[in-house]
Amino acid sequence: MAGGAWRSMLSVLMGTVKSKAPWTRNFTQGVQTVTLIPGDGIGPEISTAVMKIFEAAKAPIQWEERSVTAIKGPSGRWMIPPEAKESMDKSKIGLKGPLKTPIAAGHPSMNLLLRKTFDLYANVRPCASIEGYKTPYDDVNLVTIRENTEGEYSGIEHVIVNGVVQSIKLITEKASKRIAEYAFEYARNNQRISVTAVHKANIMRMSDGLFLRKCREVAENYKDIKFTEMYLDTVCLNMVQDPTQFDVLVMPNLYGDILSDLCAGLIGGLGVTPSGNIGANGVAIFESVHGTAPDIAGKDLANPTALLLSAVMMLRHMGLHGYAKKIEMACFDTIRDKKVLTKDLGGNSKCSEFTNEICRRVQDMD
Ligand code: IPM
Ligand code: MN
Repeated sequence: MAGGAWRSMLSVLMGTVKSKAPWTRNFTQGVQTVTLIPGDGIGPEISTAVMKIFEAAKAPIQWEERSVTAIKGPSGRWMIPPEAKESMDKSKIGLKGPLKTPIAAGHPSMNLLLRKTFDLYANVRPCASIEGYKTPYDDVNLVTIRENTEGEYSGIEHVIVNGVVQSIKLITEKASKRIAEYAFEYARNNQRISVTAVHKANIMRMSDGLFLRKCREVAENYKDIKFTEMYLDTVCLNMVQDPTQFDVLVMPNLYGDILSDLCAGLIGGLGVTPSGNIGANGVAIFESVHGTAPDIAGKDLANPTALLLSAVMMLRHMGLHGYAKKIEMACFDTIRDKKVLTKDLGGNSKCSEFTNEICRRVQDMD
């Protein structure tokens, strides 16, 4: 496919909802503040890279940097630091690097706490093949939309008797309906053709049954979008056989966690896959979903692409389409050109060199 066609396809893919749907709001003109959570490990390096590229593009964004560590509130509940909460409450938009989740830390994952705190109920992960970055699959172009607040991630677990633990998978009518509506609106606003509901209602008849029922009901209001339903295992099988048959997929939380990683694998991994967590009234946090890579942290070796493409999604969410396009093109052109790439992308360059190359291309577009 020619460069131009790729670009427009990717632009459509990474576009965001433009309607007056409940998760949007009008952003004012002029410089806008974004809460930046650099995160752990390679987080600070890749955040610096994104800031540099935004500066080169003269994007009208001012960063308010906040750290997010687990704090125990007066009632004994875990919360994010008040400085971070207040910043997000004001800015409504966050960009976040990776946060480590130690299994034995005694506090919940800060990634999840952020999603819960701001009720970021839709997790959107576009997966599109990147020209010049060869994987066994070409022409992947799909979006996973994951329910982000409940399901297997409810965090409700208890010991029934010694040696027997129960974990509650919570599915509600309200959350199922709003994620289904989000998926169909997304499809409509991003020139997508179909929505597939991914489920296991043959086994979890009540919980996945409810999720599926809500998807079917919502589908009735979107006759312009083709609706299909498929079992999760069948989706996995068909996905690795021919991912081009899929478009928008909507599913409960854990299925979305796993399937979105699988899809990221089709296009080159978590290092190149963006992600957005969207809530009501335009509140959103965009994040890279790869790990903190402590082995290479501080060595100027990290690949900032996933965080940068997440930041591009953020710009579109804020209505800053011109800046988004410029930065996205500079990033994809750099990858296609293959001359300045980080190690994981098959090159020998440092994070700062890759970043500078993108900056140079952004500036050349002016
Ligand atoms: C993701 C991550 C998180 C999740 C972790 C870091 C809590 O894997 O965003 O997909 O499981 O949701
Ligand atoms: Mn995950």
